[in-house]
Amino acid sequence: MPITLKSTDDLQAMRTAGRLAAEVLDMLAEHVRPGVTTDQLDQLAHRHIVDVQGAVPAPLNYAPPGYVPYPKSICTSVNHQVCHGIPNERPLKAGDIVNIDVTVIKDGWHGDTSRMFVVGEGSIQARRLVQLTYEAMWRGIVRVKPGARLGDIGHAIQTFTENQGFSVVREFCGHGIGRKFHEEPQVLHYGRPGTLDELQPGMVFTIEPMINAGRREIRELGDGWTIVTKDRSLSAQWEHTVAVTETGWEVLTLSAGSPPPPEFVRG
Ligand code: MF3
Ligand code: CO
Ligand code: CO
Repeated sequence: MPITLKSTDDLQAMRTAGRLAAEVLDMLAEHVRPGVTTDQLDQLAHRHIVDVQGAVPAPLNYAPPGYVPYPKSICTSVNHQVCHGIPNERPLKAGDIVNIDVTVIKDGWHGDTSRMFVVGEGSIQARRLVQLTYEAMWRGIVRVKPGARLGDIGHAIQTFTENQGFSVVREFCGHGIGRKFHEEPQVLHYGRPGTLDELQPGMVFTIEPMINAGRREIRELGDGWTIVTKDRSLSAQWEHTVAVTETGWEVLTLSAGSPPPPEFVRG
């Protein structure tokens, strides 16, 4: 399957889906505190997406080839969980870090975004990882423009991350997105400048780096979904859905509660 280019109308629909996904995170933010279970967050998100937004939670029963159907409406990845953590009955506790990944389908179009939350205070080390991963995502986003290549995005994220002594997970990547949850291209979070596909206006894809405080190696838990760091070091991830415009980039997954871009983006 080739990379699909989105029309002006398609992009308008994707802006709506993207904003709705981000607004789920806005809604959840105040509920992420010690004692809440990730199941409770999942139920809050599910009800909001279905009842308030009139949208569909894309993860629920999602089953790519080789996977069992995903059983919940959001992903919640805690501490050394890298991605695809399944909400459960365990309460969050002060000091945990959690990634909440929300994907909604509105009028047939997908919006995919995730944020990190620090429960209670959080160690200096944990907060540093969360901040650095946020900046790593934005180091990738600002490379997006017609004529740039996917390898430029990966290279920017990788060099920034490794220069600070952290590691980039290789096995999972960003992805094209539109009428389908996961489309071409794959958007690696490491790589060499000037390599891979050239970006064109109308492409839409996610940038969603997973960064480990320790080594980059991962393994899968027995549930068919949850990915953890092999060395049990902390892992963080942020995700935006981004469109290539005529002159650069547009983030489609912004909302009133989105954290501001880092200083270097605002100039
Ligand atoms: N939202 C994830 C991504 O960013 C995919 C989750 S697949 C699921 O690509 F089935 F676990 F939800
Ligand atoms: Co994604
Ligand atoms: Co996602």
